Amino acid sequence: MSSILLIDQIPETEQWSKMTELWDANALHDPITSSDLFCFHNQGLFEEDARRITAYLVKHLKLDANSHVLDLGGGMGRIAKYLAPQVAQYTLADISLEMLKQAQIRLKGIAHVRLIHLKRPVIPCEPGSFDCCIAVDLFQHLPQLTLREYFPIVTSLLKPNGQFLFTTGLEPQNSQPKESDLKNADRLLGLLGLKTLPFGLLSTPLFEELINSSGYRLAERGKDFPGCLPFLPFQIPFTGYFYRLRRLN
Ligand SMILES: C[S@@+](CC[C@H](N)C(=O)[O-])C[C@H]1O[C@@H](n2cnc3c(N)ncnc32)[C@H](O)[C@@H]1O
Repeated sequence: MSSILLIDQIPETEQWSKMTELWDANALHDPITSSDLFCFHNQGLFEEDARRITAYLVKHLKLDANSHVLDLGGGMGRIAKYLAPQVAQYTLADISLEMLKQAQIRLKGIAHVRLIHLKRPVIPCEPGSFDCCIAVDLFQHLPQLTLREYFPIVTSLLKPNGQFLFTTGLEPQNSQPKESDLKNADRLLGLLGLKTLPFGLLSTPLFEELINSSGYRLAERGKDFPGCLPFLPFQIPFTGYFYRLRRLN
């Protein structure tokens, strides 16, 4: 049995409930490994990854004690635990209620964190209220429909000149995920004992179209997002590649 569901291949009307079902199942089964495949079930590595990613985000997005951050697909608050205490307001939105239950425990005591359960592709927040939106290890799991819906929503929620940083797991020179990448991802999920996870069929032209049509300019694109443990001796698909955009005024 495959550990991957190609979410674009099921009818659009069923995609949202399927994503919810699969993420809830993984959150109940193994929340830390389904949030961070490279922690390999190890809480210490999970925290180490979270701290490294947080330091990278603070530096690249120039976040400070005045920043308002939206963490889209923020899951069980892996990053929020370290990033939220450094900013003024932190909003974490996720499709999985089970992930959010974990986040509630993990983020207990941080006063300015708001958790939002997304029941459809609408983010109920004040327009123009965020300095930045992050989406870490989210987009590779989305169908194209949801990706198309999220882009303009995030634009509307950002302040002018606000930033949108997301990882893609897609090498920019490949316009489609390689067949071998999907096979390797499937093997990795199987080895980790995870339940089936949804994966989308992203493409570089799709990102270019969405960036241009949703009111952004490309500020930076790279492959050094520190999603993968530094000591792993091989490049794994769905880590590393990211875009940082600026909302046009
Ligand atoms: C691999 S986890 C990453 C979680 C978090 N960003 C992190 O880096 O720890 C992906 C998260 O995206 C959430 N998710 C999946 N589909 C989503 C959607 N359509 N909208 C919002 N969140 C979604 C999942 O529930 C899960 O918590």
